[in-house]
Amino acid sequence: MQLSRRALLRSGAIVAGLSLAPRVALAQSDRIESLIGRMTLAEKAGQLSCFSDLLRAPGIVFNPGAASGNTAEQLANLRAGKFGMLFNGTGVAGARTMQRMALEETRLGIPLIFAADVIHGLRTIFPIPLAEAGSFDPDLAERTARGAALESTATGIHWTFAPMVDVARDQRWGRVAEGSGEDTCLGQAMAAARVRGFQGTDLRDPTRMLACPKHFAAYGAVAAGMDYNSVDISMEMLREVHLPPFQSSFAAGALTTMSAFNDINGVPSTANRWLLTDLLRGEWAFKGLVVSDWTADEELIAHGYAADGRDAAKKAFLAGVDMSMSSNLYNLHLPALVEAGEVPVAAVDASVRRVLQLKDSIGLFDNPYRSMNAKAERTQIASPALRKLSREAGAKSIVLLRNDGALLPLKASPGRIALIGPFGDDRDNVAGAWAFMADKTIGVDLATGIRAKLANPKMLDVVKGSDVEAALPGGIDAAVAAARAADVVLLAIGETQAMSGEAQSRVAIVIPPAQQALVEAVAATGKPLIILLRHGRALALSGAVKDAPAIVATWFLGSEMGNAVADVLFGTVNPSAKLPVSFPRESGQEPYYYNHKTTGRPASGTPNEEYKARYRETTNEALYPFGHGLSYTSFALSALQMPATVPASGTLTVSATLTNSGKVSGTEVVQLYIHDRVASRTRPVRELKRFERVTLAPGATKQVRFDLTTADLQFWADDKWISEPGAFDIWIGTSSVGGLQGSVALTA
Ligand code: BGC
Repeated sequence: MQLSRRALLRSGAIVAGLSLAPRVALAQSDRIESLIGRMTLAEKAGQLSCFSDLLRAPGIVFNPGAASGNTAEQLANLRAGKFGMLFNGTGVAGARTMQRMALEETRLGIPLIFAADVIHGLRTIFPIPLAEAGSFDPDLAERTARGAALESTATGIHWTFAPMVDVARDQRWGRVAEGSGEDTCLGQAMAAARVRGFQGTDLRDPTRMLACPKHFAAYGAVAAGMDYNSVDISMEMLREVHLPPFQSSFAAGALTTMSAFNDINGVPSTANRWLLTDLLRGEWAFKGLVVSDWTADEELIAHGYAADGRDAAKKAFLAGVDMSMSSNLYNLHLPALVEAGEVPVAAVDASVRRVLQLKDSIGLFDNPYRSMNAKAERTQIASPALRKLSREAGAKSIVLLRNDGALLPLKASPGRIALIGPFGDDRDNVAGAWAFMADKTIGVDLATGIRAKLANPKMLDVVKGSDVEAALPGGIDAAVAAARAADVVLLAIGETQAMSGEAQSRVAIVIPPAQQALVEAVAATGKPLIILLRHGRALALSGAVKDAPAIVATWFLGSEMGNAVADVLFGTVNPSAKLPVSFPRESGQEPYYYNHKTTGRPASGTPNEEYKARYRETTNEALYPFGHGLSYTSFALSALQMPATVPASGTLTVSATLTNSGKVSGTEVVQLYIHDRVASRTRPVRELKRFERVTLAPGATKQVRFDLTTADLQFWADDKWISEPGAFDIWIGTSSVGGLQGSVALTA
């Protein structure tokens, strides 16, 4: 990446206190040029092809249409140099065998690079990225990414297809679980932190792995939240909302990206020359590698954008896709396309150069067996330190949505507890989506975590009551009986991990009806209810779930889920996370996000207001807004300060005082939002620009100070970033609603 700081500022890549990572550059080398000079066209196409690893565990092909072949074919293809990368296999011994074959049994001896979908941990699983984003703690995200790299590289992985940096404003889309939620600023900070955590500053360090921010681009904007759907989007929305997390990832040193499945305004991302070449390599000066998503090149045919495999390979390649994933189209067609003069050989060489440079950047030519160390594989996997980190991250990702009458935290001897619901002692749904290589033996369920906190573990009754999507015979009766006998009821309800992630869009983001019926029946006992939501997205809560006095968003927290939840339930950890996605009142409000426009007819919130931008059945206010999350202590903000004016070239310093006004130590996430009152483009009602986690002892006070520049006040109009003189509202608050409000005038 050779972008100047000024260029990044202009492009809006530097926000939220992000700084430029030390330069990470792809190496130039004579060795690479000499290799390219000796390669046949078929060998070049091979380096530009990658497949799911069938030779090692888990050896699963998840997607339809894979051309990976069977194991015998894959071995033959390895010897014939038909791929430069394999992905989603683990194991040092197998990696060493394959690497030896690549070095000794292929004509040119080019080392393989091994990749994998390590999205939130490999064996030790950390919270799903969405949950972790709720910590508003980029340092934590950097540490869990570092942990994932330690484990992955100990089992022979060099490159992860992460972070997923798609901004997701529609909770029906199942892949919201994999990213950082609905906000761009939070998404940028998390994306950059994860890249730093995976890669570190020395790419040759065998305990570090390459990052691959994905899916480029606007995949989170698929229409109606249906996975793989089309994206029709304005340039303003693309530039302001969906692209900045990619820019932040590249600024943090990411050297690869993955082209998305979706089309953008009629042109599939994987054949989108404007996106992959003009913008990415031209305007942003990206020097790294573009890999297609799984068969995304072949899918150009289904999109109706390419006539056949040959046409698809040509269009994807000429648009800027260096490496084809799983379709085999480059092996099949690139050589002939070059021979027919339809694809310039120089372009093929440029892509091959990027692949070889990427391999060289992590030292594979000098040390082809890097990250293939049997001792590390024995000692670095699921280590106590990683499990401790997973538990810390889990507890820091839990959002206390509601806590009427200070029902939480529980005392060490809270009387009899009934733990009811399909997730009480379930270990199959603690990890969340994209954890198919997890060590399933280490997942901690809720019952185990809670029992470990109790003076008398026999005081916990665990009753399932219902399956996730179907009633259980006698289930409700058993649950009601347990609730009647209890002093407090915990209801562990929500979604399985298979209900979010890829291809798992939902039409209604509700608690499945069978579980809702369970909660209604249990609530009728009148016992104090604490809802423990399990979920990979924001949910629309209703009835007895919505009305419960205590509601906790526990997502999918990974290997230590039960312990992390118990830490928060019993007050060992004071909850501090905030919602990275808004909870609407009704599913039908989706896409629902805090940073919407005002419209010409904003509703005031009074019921039944006619001819206003609202629905008949509900008010517009979130049930729980973006940025919301309670603590066991209370915080007060005061003394908001900012200047009356700021010149275009100046720094705008905004400060406020945070006081822990409660009785226990706690952490608050202080959030700064802006609103441009009058502009030549309609602007969002609020936009998050800065945040900071502040930990205070009871009674303690801290002045929180944020520095903004004009770059923070900009928007995209007429093909460039601009800021316009005039008044801006500024809030410092503890969620996207309310807070201390002031204003500042930007002068010309
Ligand atoms: C997903 C990607 C993933 C790839 C490789 C695709 O189906 O969209 O996120 O990296 O498969 O497993």
